[in-house]
Amino acid sequence: MKTIAICNNKGGVGKTTICFCLAGALAELGKKVLAVDMDQQGSLSSSFLPANNDLQCTVADVILNDQASIREAILKTNFKNIDLVPSNLTLGRIETELLSERDAYHFLADKLEEIKSEYDVILLDSPPNLGLASWSVLTAADGVIIPLEAQDYSVKGTGFVHGLIQKVRRRANPNLKILGYVINRYDGRRRIEQDFKAMIEKHLEGTVFKQDLKDSVKYVEAVTLGKPITFLAPKSEQAEAIRSICREVIHAQKL
Ligand SMILES: Nc1ncnc2c1ncn2[C@@H]1O[C@H](COP(=O)(O)OP(=O)(O)OP(=O)(O)O)[C@@H](O)[C@H]1O
Ligand SMILES: [Mg+2]
Repeated sequence: MKTIAICNNKGGVGKTTICFCLAGALAELGKKVLAVDMDQQGSLSSSFLPANNDLQCTVADVILNDQASIREAILKTNFKNIDLVPSNLTLGRIETELLSERDAYHFLADKLEEIKSEYDVILLDSPPNLGLASWSVLTAADGVIIPLEAQDYSVKGTGFVHGLIQKVRRRANPNLKILGYVINRYDGRRRIEQDFKAMIEKHLEGTVFKQDLKDSVKYVEAVTLGKPITFLAPKSEQAEAIRSICREVIHAQKL
């Protein structure tokens, strides 16, 4: 159990931030991490490689070419123990160019197979839709983390991602496990958020991470400055919160 998807079709709920910071927390523990950017927005890639606009090989090049090895796309980051498979807008091509491939959602999983034994954890960031990239991520994953906000629309939206997980389980990956929902950008001073949090915990019983992530500019700084929070501000409560999520993941995944 080592491949973890961070997935929610709702945009801006913290998928990339959690993926980026979780990679940092795992690396800090000495785990060898491969982060794979499966979003054509390339936000995870920009955070890990702030100065690199000229990617020679992306995850799309590997998925689109049957002969290509994922090794060709793996880059070292500035952080010990973290490698990255980057992406950019070219990833959008998989949605159209693989239309005639009946089992295209298996391609990512197949490519990862080659290097799986070289990493302790593989983290897959996904886009804000339920297209082929999200299917691919959930097909390749052992477990999925679903970030959401303590708001009405966000809670209702979990039905879509849950529906996709059920479909992927039936057709491609029966063992896919929901590691849990992470309540992100939580502001516990607001009554309405307290109420939504209580509702989420009741509704998604037993699958919500004990640790939530507060709304904090520190997380914005982390992704903008290209340093996971555990490296940017190791003693901060925000870093501690990510470490706590990380411990819950390690416990659930037996990493
Ligand atoms: N806990 C937090 N506190 C404050 N800001 C946050 C927090 N988590 C994420 N953000 C900010 O919210 C924005 C969206 O976060 P992020 O990019 O991680 O979401 P996403 O789900 O990956 O978005 P997309 O669906 O576009 O890929 C970013 O500007 C990020 O810095
Ligand atoms: Mg994102």
